[in-house]
Amino acid sequence: MYDINKLAGDLTYLWNRYNNSKNLMKRVLSGIQPSGQLHLGNYFGMMSRMIHYQEENDLFAFIVNYHALTSIQNREILRENTFSAACDFLALGLDPEKSTFWIQGDVPQATELTWLLSNVVNVGLLQRSTSYKDKIAQGVAPNMGLFSYPILMAADILLFGSEKVPVGKDQKQHLEMAQDMATRFNNTFGDVFVVPEPDIDKETQLVPGIDGQKMSKSYGNTIPVFCNEKTLKKKVMSIVTDSTPIDESKSTDSPIFQIYSLFLDKKEKKELTNRFKTPGLKYGDVKKEIFERIWTHFKPFRDKRNYLKNHNDYVKNVLKEGAQKASAVGNDYLSRAREAMGLNY
Ligand code: ADP
Ligand code: TRP
Repeated sequence: MYDINKLAGDLTYLWNRYNNSKNLMKRVLSGIQPSGQLHLGNYFGMMSRMIHYQEENDLFAFIVNYHALTSIQNREILRENTFSAACDFLALGLDPEKSTFWIQGDVPQATELTWLLSNVVNVGLLQRSTSYKDKIAQGVAPNMGLFSYPILMAADILLFGSEKVPVGKDQKQHLEMAQDMATRFNNTFGDVFVVPEPDIDKETQLVPGIDGQKMSKSYGNTIPVFCNEKTLKKKVMSIVTDSTPIDESKSTDSPIFQIYSLFLDKKEKKELTNRFKTPGLKYGDVKKEIFERIWTHFKPFRDKRNYLKNHNDYVKNVLKEGAQKASAVGNDYLSRAREAMGLNY
């Protein structure tokens, strides 16, 4: 026979222990825009580290569909991309039991915080945004969403008390802006926000694309994580190489070496370095190996993703529960910010 009081006591004990352990962990948060196919730069620059962090940290991960409105203004595409990006994260190992995972637009408190932060951020700071300037140079419409993108990103980070934010190098300036907004807010209204730290990994902060520039969805130079065999082969085969003759040693400071290295451990990387230094290496052979490596590496993830894509209800349920958990944390920070600013009367 169950002793109902004992059972209730045990459950309370376990629940408190769970919360205490979460309190001791660092809160790590990052997001990705559902703006196109996930690529190796996204995976190694941010996603694989995030997934690793869930083991020993309080991980918050989300799909930033509000941010994607700055580049996608087509309902069907945004909806499809958002669901697909959620499947990518789960397929690659994000465990909803160990983390909080949701869609940005399901926790709209970030937009209110955006307004509050708009009143502490300097226009000059936003005007210096390199990402804004790049987008304008590419011909993207200079609307207010694009201009205030960094404020929404700061709100995303501050709303959840994030301490550490894993990103690639291109997001460094956005993180500095978030630090600036947190500090200005705290100095003006009292300590409410945690000042976040960027988490940028030297080895993977800037994965090159097949043309040697930074790999990016907007440059059309990516190697997608999930695509069919033929496309993958085509992409890998078109990685740029120099015209060093076969009987000379090859440079390791090249996209082909850097992309291959992402999949190698220390010993294998040393071996590859030796092969590059030794005359006789054929780039075509190396490309075939890279293709095989990528294709095999992501095989189990591909299978899981196919499964998830056919189980909408499961994915939607995970996201709904995640949004509820994120909302509870967000409400707490938001109400403290409102109180500090005198919005509660
Ligand atoms: P994209 O430039 O392809 O649109 P996102 O802006 O969606 O990529 O980036 C999502 C995450 O992946 C960010 O943390 C970003 O810093 C990281 N990232 C994107 N491209 C690269 C890259 N080439 N190397 C390292 N990290 C990258
Ligand atoms: N700007 C980020 C990118 O393009 C996406 C993003 C939005 C983000 N909000 C965030 C990243 C909060 C980290 C934390 O990659």
